[in-house]
Amino acid sequence: MRLTILVSVLILGLVAAELPLAEKCNEELCKLPNCRCSSTNIPGGFRPRDTPQFITLTFDDAVNVRNMATYREILYNRKNANGCPIGTTFYVSHEYSNYHLINELYNQGFEIALHSITHRTPTEFWAAASYKDLKEEIADQKELIAHFANIPQESIRGVRIPFLQLAGNTSYQVMADHGLEYDSSWPTSEILNPGLWPYTLDYASIQDCPVPPCPTASIPKPWVQPMLSFRDTMGFPCAMADSCFFTPVVTDVDAWYKLFIRNFERQYFGNRAPFGFYLHEWYLESQPGVKAAYIKFLDTVTRLSDVFLVNHGEVLDWVKNPVPLNEYMKKPCRSFTPTNCAMRSCHAFEPNNRKNYWFDICTNCPRLYPWVGNPLGA
Ligand SMILES: *[C@@H]1O[C@H](CO)[C@@H](O)[C@H](O)[C@H]1NC(C)=O
Ligand SMILES: [Zn+2]
Repeated sequence: MRLTILVSVLILGLVAAELPLAEKCNEELCKLPNCRCSSTNIPGGFRPRDTPQFITLTFDDAVNVRNMATYREILYNRKNANGCPIGTTFYVSHEYSNYHLINELYNQGFEIALHSITHRTPTEFWAAASYKDLKEEIADQKELIAHFANIPQESIRGVRIPFLQLAGNTSYQVMADHGLEYDSSWPTSEILNPGLWPYTLDYASIQDCPVPPCPTASIPKPWVQPMLSFRDTMGFPCAMADSCFFTPVVTDVDAWYKLFIRNFERQYFGNRAPFGFYLHEWYLESQPGVKAAYIKFLDTVTRLSDVFLVNHGEVLDWVKNPVPLNEYMKKPCRSFTPTNCAMRSCHAFEPNNRKNYWFDICTNCPRLYPWVGNPLGA
């Protein structure tokens, strides 16, 4: 009897460690709002012309005084054609971030998402990361940001792993277990025209895997918001708009503008899969011509009545409960709970790297600099 129990426990343990392999997606079983097969089908079965064209602007890495000047200049007070303020999602890494400024971005209605505590190198660390590594780097970062920027934990929904380097199943297991709703780390350079729409991992993904390892297990809950690559001037794919190889000369604003528009039109005149415009702020600030082209692009698309620049999480809200364009246009603008920031400038030590940091936050100064394994700096 005891032996039977022991054997059962052992077998259960082995079974629990091995995730079920994802099977070919079954459209009958996989239905919205919580399951969607990976496909280029438009959610809700709408025709392209009845589908809102979403654009998601994103910026990665630490938020500081320098890049904040650019964000204020190009993003604040900008509206979609329907009169609602545009969205932008900031994939924030912790080291050197200013939480007073992150609070300001949140209070502008923008989305704050996760990009790890350390953003450490080498890339191989992220490819081989364990469940514990990713729990401490990503899941704990939600608590860290919510605390020091004084923003609601529920407002933090998305993840982008540094260097877009997934660790296969493990990355999504951590997201599933810690209430992280979506990932934006997985590029596709093949499913662009028509484009791949967001989907869940209950069933096997049809997406190409330019940065292996990608997940192959069935992992319900988290959504993949695939990163549809740009194509550079020679047609080669670039996962981020600032990682293209063949580009116009930096001073040729018009050529850059045309490059952006050409990429946008692939989706807009196609199946209207969300168009992601993924950048690092330094790319614009170090190349005024590219920045001018980016601003010109924003000026153009915010005049189109069927185009909506929204937070990344808002795309998912629509995909889960799709409504046709004419109905979407009448929706009220997004709302959020404003929060305050009683700013404090702190100075604290980080014992692992033996480094001192100066940083601004919206709470009392912590004893130590917040870090992996000690996200509140206690
Ligand atoms: C993911 O899980 C599946 C199913 O258990 C397994 O076959 C595959 O090797 C795993 N992939 C990685 C990268 O761990
Ligand atoms: Zn980064």
